Amino acid sequence: MSDTEWSNLSTEDRRFPPPPELVAEANVTAETYARAAEDPDAFWAEQARRISWGTEPTESLDWSNPPFAKWFADGTLNAAYNCLDRHVEAGLGDRVAFHFEGEPGDSRALTYAELTREVCRAANALTALGVRAGDRVAIYLPMVPEAVVAMLACARIGAPHVVVFGGFSADALSTRILDCGVEVVITADGGYRRGSASALKPAVDAALEKCPDVRSVLVVQRTGQETAMTEGRDIWWHDALAAESDQHTPEMFPAEHPLYVMYTSGSTGKPKGILHTTGGYLVGTSYTQWATFDLKADRDVFWTAADIGWVTGHSYLVYGPLSNATTSVMYEGTPDTPHQGRWWEIVEKYRVSILYCAPTAIRTFMKWGADIPARHDLSSLRVLGSVGEPINPEAYVWYRENIGGGRTPVVDTWWQTETGMHMITPMPALSVGKPGAAMTPFPGVSIDVVDDEANPVANGHAGLLVITKPWPSMLRTLWGDDQRYVDTYWSRFEGLYFAGDGAKRDADGDIWLLGRVDDVMNVSGHRMSTTEIESSLVSHPKVAEAAVVGATDETTGQAIVAFVILREDAEAGDDIVAELRAHVAKDIGPIARPRSIMVVPELPKTRSGKIMRRLLRDIAENRALGDVTTLTDSSVMDLIKDKLPSAP
Ligand code: WTA
Repeated sequence: MSDTEWSNLSTEDRRFPPPPELVAEANVTAETYARAAEDPDAFWAEQARRISWGTEPTESLDWSNPPFAKWFADGTLNAAYNCLDRHVEAGLGDRVAFHFEGEPGDSRALTYAELTREVCRAANALTALGVRAGDRVAIYLPMVPEAVVAMLACARIGAPHVVVFGGFSADALSTRILDCGVEVVITADGGYRRGSASALKPAVDAALEKCPDVRSVLVVQRTGQETAMTEGRDIWWHDALAAESDQHTPEMFPAEHPLYVMYTSGSTGKPKGILHTTGGYLVGTSYTQWATFDLKADRDVFWTAADIGWVTGHSYLVYGPLSNATTSVMYEGTPDTPHQGRWWEIVEKYRVSILYCAPTAIRTFMKWGADIPARHDLSSLRVLGSVGEPINPEAYVWYRENIGGGRTPVVDTWWQTETGMHMITPMPALSVGKPGAAMTPFPGVSIDVVDDEANPVANGHAGLLVITKPWPSMLRTLWGDDQRYVDTYWSRFEGLYFAGDGAKRDADGDIWLLGRVDDVMNVSGHRMSTTEIESSLVSHPKVAEAAVVGATDETTGQAIVAFVILREDAEAGDDIVAELRAHVAKDIGPIARPRSIMVVPELPKTRSGKIMRRLLRDIAENRALGDVTTLTDSSVMDLIKDKLPSAP
């Protein structure tokens, strides 16, 4: 990351001190940071006491076999018990765990007591299907409460869940099922999306044609649409649960027992199965949700507007909030159904006090206009959060002013599927907010920005973001691939976790995130691999070669732009572009559909044959071309440009 790319941000000098009423009751103070810095192990041991253990751990970190960490290794616990039963036992059974808001307007409140009973039934149903501790269960559901019930039922019986985003294709689903050796799948007939019922089950049926080992499919009825059921394999969720008792004794598992696998895009084609284990993950998500949002669980209404199919849904819709006995909102659908004020209607209806979403959503609301939120009473909001991609200062300030009424702090939280929990963030009741900056490593977390030789950069300079010490909710490995875990995260620099992000320290030493430094794009806060989309394109019979780049996009952060060379016998034209866009959407999922595809005669390559994506990005972003001297043949760029009278 060069210093010139940084310069447009360095002029940002607006500052927002924390509101006095938050400071007066702050969960986190300067003393918290000091204590954490002095003895991180003792600090995390202290946070581990937030959790209820079967056997209390006597040790925090075991780093005797780096980079394979163990946390609280001699402790035992049950994640579902921590999220449910213990709150009921403490007299909080009547507290609402979720206010569910369906897209068509149906709503449902689930208390901690009700959720506990549902999870017990589901745990019994899974056990009846032969699922045992250690078996992986795939969950492919829309945003409905049953998704949470399914996850916690798995956790309760020690069966790691593998949640696959409902927007992914049948192929993406089967790849994950096969990689993870899944034998039981939980899905639904469909879900509501943009005003209509959209089927999910047919994708499961298609995926399972390639997965002979899947023996049972539980099907949640959400839309009531016509759904084919395979005799002997498919069972309605409601039938399976009705047959079971709502009592279930949770077993205590070792802290390092696998909790879940979540697949995410890497810089090569094959998605990576990030493995999270139980004790450290729960401590990390529980403490960060409480600290970063200054949570007051007896008063706050918390809304993470993210899908359960992403890590944000896992950590801040399920495990963090429930372990803290939070009341949350869960919304099924899109922000503009049936109108563009839907989110603000929900905030008003449930008196949401903490809202957590992605910059992409904020930029979309900016485009729709400030008069839309202005029609609603948003005075209940007191903390706003941002996640998934760098938030540009204009979006930050717009969010604070138009959603937060100019009162609310905005916390820009940097983290990853791999980190499991927030790693860099300001604190709402302590930090003087800087628009665009994630600012400060979380207490007990060690971060640095280094140059290519692993030397820390001086203030005012950019470099690569690294994590210098293990943290409780870190990934433990990649499912079935320890070597790839070592290669991807621990080989760039000796003893440092390489995050794949560029970052900058400002004059005060605060951290600003600058985006990915590898071949991973960030589209609407979702990680997409350029290589994965390239291999999908070349799998089409008419495509000879493909190169994909992430081009800056005003709303989605980055947009997918593809350059393809067709096979000799194929004809260029609008049809082929539409055909290829549809091909990728079917292959990977609609979120991977390229914004534009350009048919070109050549691709720019270095002498060693590597595609120069940087030059393609210049074209995609309508910029003057950068340095072309390393190209095998610099006339290639003229050839490409000649073919493209108007770039997208
Ligand atoms: C990016 C999502 C800037 C980053 C929780 C990271 C961010 C990747 C921020 C992880 C942020 C996430 N500022 N960039 N606040 N949060 N990112 O695994 O590039 O879906 O490496 O986890 O998103 O994406 P993932």
